Amino acid sequence: MNILVTGANGQLGTELRNVSAGVPDRYIFTDVTSVPGVDTVYLDITNRDAVRLICDSEQVDVIVNCAAYTNVDKAEDDLQMADLLNHLAPGILAGVAAERGAHLIHISTDYVFQGDIALPCREDWPVHPNGVYGATKLQGEQAVQESGCSWQIFRTAWLYSPYGKNFVKTMRQLTAERPALKVVFDQVGSPTYAWDLARLICQVISGRKMDKGGIYHFSNEGVCSWFDFACAIRDLSGNTCDIRPCHSDEFPSKVRRPHFSVLDKTKVKETFGVQVPHWYESLKKCIDRL
Ligand SMILES: NC(=O)c1ccc[n+]([C@@H]2O[C@H](COP(=O)([O-])OP(=O)(O)OC[C@H]3O[C@@H](n4cnc5c(N)ncnc54)[C@H](OP(=O)(O)O)[C@@H]3O)[C@@H](O)[C@H]2O)c1
Repeated sequence: MNILVTGANGQLGTELRNVSAGVPDRYIFTDVTSVPGVDTVYLDITNRDAVRLICDSEQVDVIVNCAAYTNVDKAEDDLQMADLLNHLAPGILAGVAAERGAHLIHISTDYVFQGDIALPCREDWPVHPNGVYGATKLQGEQAVQESGCSWQIFRTAWLYSPYGKNFVKTMRQLTAERPALKVVFDQVGSPTYAWDLARLICQVISGRKMDKGGIYHFSNEGVCSWFDFACAIRDLSGNTCDIRPCHSDEFPSKVRRPHFSVLDKTKVKETFGVQVPHWYESLKKCIDRL
């Protein structure tokens, strides 16, 4: 099978490149960003003709969309770009997939939920995004579902990896540089090691489980606050910074972030028979790689 990966030089795309190395399927990694020494085909997912052309010439069977507008704060002032990447572009990919009978694996977010209920969110819960990022990601989900293509949507949360910019890398650096810092303890969730999500996607494709369509939630097991997560990052990095818990209102932001965004993973575990590692075990693995 020929698998087209978009946004392949982002966090999830890079981990998908790592976990798919050596599998019999042929992966084609594309992005608008290039990384020195990394083989990447240029593809802008907002360009329908370009998407059609590469899908035809490479005889693509599965598209994995790892590209997105992921800067949650910036999206508030950049609605047009966030809408283009998170809403319209998934519609383009899904439309091209529908035309050629290909399958689309699309990635979405816990930000489609309001995050006010202290229970793990199930896939069939009512959605209610708080800001532009969540709203455009939700519209992207809807565009995929309405396209008529074969699709799977994996919603994830608190994604991190050794690549790009993320909370783990930031906290590792800050706890090395500063004697003390404050981190919010009133936002609770489950971190996701991008390697674990990439492995799941690769297993779905290698196991030919694309017929099991629908929305799935995926993060690591266990629950923590950003404060707990920061303390674990500090300890596993061998740093000694004094981290104090604080409330979200000490860090004013244009976006109201979900207070409780734990994703219920029952469906993904039952459907694909996967075991999901605890967030602390996966964090250890990521920090070992840094
Ligand atoms: N990060 C999180 O905490 C988080 C949480 C929940 C869900 N998610 C979802 O998980 C998925 C993967 O996130 P991630 O953190 O791996 O994203 P990421 O690191 O921001 O990677 C996205 C990639 O897409 C590229 N891109 C931007 N515009 C493009 C275009 N027009 N055509 C093709 N590629 C383009 C980006 O390039 P540039 O860097 O040049 O823009 C980047 O390489 C996304 O759907 C995201 O919404 C992420």
